Amino acid sequence: MLMLPANCKVLESPEDVAGQACRIVIAEAEAAIRERRMFRIVLAGGRTPQRTYQMLAGMVQDWSAWEIFWSDERCLPSDHAGRNSRMAQDAWLSQVAIPAGQIHPIPAELGATLAAAEYAKLVLDRQPFDLLLLGMGEDGHTASLFSTSGDPVAPVIAVHGAPKPPGERVSLNFETLRACRKQLVLITGAEKSPALFAWQHGASLPIAHAVRNDACLLVDSEAGRSTNFAVPGHY
Ligand code: 6PG
Repeated sequence: MLMLPANCKVLESPEDVAGQACRIVIAEAEAAIRERRMFRIVLAGGRTPQRTYQMLAGMVQDWSAWEIFWSDERCLPSDHAGRNSRMAQDAWLSQVAIPAGQIHPIPAELGATLAAAEYAKLVLDRQPFDLLLLGMGEDGHTASLFSTSGDPVAPVIAVHGAPKPPGERVSLNFETLRACRKQLVLITGAEKSPALFAWQHGASLPIAHAVRNDACLLVDSEAGRSTNFAVPGHY
């Protein structure tokens, strides 16, 4: 049965969610660098992780040991303000010393099909990722996976006609999103509450297929209000 991960924390505000997420990212980074001398993180798109990225920009870290990937991207010019890569660059990456060769935006400017094929080569060579971040849309989509009926095999897929603009996108596929040591899911805002409730009650949403049972889910009280864990604390 598709269900919420066991480790679900409800925090009062989006700022609290960002602060906790930042602490988790740093803890995972330091553990990975200690054990494997490299930390591979997959970034989520959308607005929700932006505050976490801003907080990470202020952290003191061995940035030379970080390697950055994305879960999905919008097929827009590489410097377009609507790109997930551009949001992370502006909020965080342009302010820290991660070597340029270790920052891997999805080349979505090439078009969905070619970009998906290109990124698949890189992704297959770098798994398992140490940490993978995910958000969720009001309809229960995650990354750029808007349905559960796509190509089950390709590690990275081209998405055409996505219901959330722009229609042309590239996304890591379900199995690739699960091929990591740890998943961190961030969901804030009252508009996400119905999908979270549906997920909690077994709905076959893309988010439910992408998120493992051992993931960490951070929710603010607004998003969690229609679920039976609306009170800030541990679910
Ligand atoms: C994108 C994202 C998408 C996002 C959700 C939530 O490119 O749009 O990858 O999956 O995470 O739509 O978006 P918000 O965080 O902006 O609500």
